[in-house]
Amino acid sequence: MRILGIESSCDETAVAIVENGQTILSNVVVSQIDIFAAYGGVIPEIAARSHLEAILPAVHQAFQKAGLVTDSGQDDWSKIDAIAVTHTPGLLGSLLVGTLTARTLCLLNHKPLYAVHHLKSHIYANWLQASLLPVFPLIALIISGGHTQIVKMSAHQNFEIIGTTRDDAVGECFDKIAKILGLPYPGGPSIAKAAKTGNSSTYSFPHPMPGTLDFSFSGLKTAVLREVQKATGKPISFPSSQLAALLTDQQRADFAASFEQTAVDILIEKIKLALKQNPETQSLIIAGGVSANQRLRHDLQIFIEQQNSKLHNKINLFFPEPRFSGDNGAMVASAAYYEILSNITPSDPYTLNIMPRSEIK
Ligand code: KG4
Ligand code: ZN
Repeated sequence: MRILGIESSCDETAVAIVENGQTILSNVVVSQIDIFAAYGGVIPEIAARSHLEAILPAVHQAFQKAGLVTDSGQDDWSKIDAIAVTHTPGLLGSLLVGTLTARTLCLLNHKPLYAVHHLKSHIYANWLQASLLPVFPLIALIISGGHTQIVKMSAHQNFEIIGTTRDDAVGECFDKIAKILGLPYPGGPSIAKAAKTGNSSTYSFPHPMPGTLDFSFSGLKTAVLREVQKATGKPISFPSSQLAALLTDQQRADFAASFEQTAVDILIEKIKLALKQNPETQSLIIAGGVSANQRLRHDLQIFIEQQNSKLHNKINLFFPEPRFSGDNGAMVASAAYYEILSNITPSDPYTLNIMPRSEIK
């Protein structure tokens, strides 16, 4: 079964064609990073306009790259079984562009429409191109720019949120701390890059909410700001680029490394607790943009190896391929494939609505 997946919930216009939930035939991602680097963050109205310009060419490119074209070079819709789209959660205008495009394409080409939750898609990025598939019951750590959650799945379509952030998401924390340090948008990759030349034990930051599966990242952001003010000897308040300009390159790298290590340690502590509370867990899945972080990948791998040497119930650790960590259409198609296998009813292309906020359920 071939599904065309459309994702436009934030600042990536993405369209992919995926076979049987796993095999990528094409994966087109049009990123707006260059536009928003100039602003230091996403401007929702500009994101929506950019989606509008990019989305139909991206659909066409997905067909071309998959080689699904008619003799006259048109997109060959006869080769597509269904269309899947992110309809929640995300930026209102951005979601509208993807959803209205999917609704229209379904009506024009007589295809069933599947409306997918963005965080479920991030989880299913772990099924893409996988030689080994995750096994239930599993625990998924979803770490993106807008969300930080621990979700337990006992089967496909069975999601239980067991931990969530009380304030900022971890990706948001990376982005805000990058701004404090004067590092470019998006903050996650630029902090990871700066951290490579830094010493992670230079500064120590708090680990909030110990002993629970809930997270809090806004205190961590304030703690970094206070230390930066202390290190520069200037109590300049934020947002102000004056503060970052006072840091030496070494201080900036040390702050990046110390913060990155703290964030990674916090995530691993929560995973450790989640596994302790759920000893039947077979697979651990890491999902969302922050799952691209190499320090996290490295430290989690070591943690799971240590865990497995003590347990008879071995846990398999899954990370998406880095190209599927961030937003993409392939994960939407994969999530929809497993919804179809579970006999979930398709959405009505005349009425499907978007929801800027909603929980996974
Ligand atoms: O999943 P995603 O692409 O979009 C949302 O659904 O939010 O996640 C974007 C987030 C941003 O906050 C970005 O800074 C973060 O993922 N990110 C990273 C890395 N690459 C992207 N955070 C830490 N390390 C990275 N290498
Ligand atoms: Zn995302």
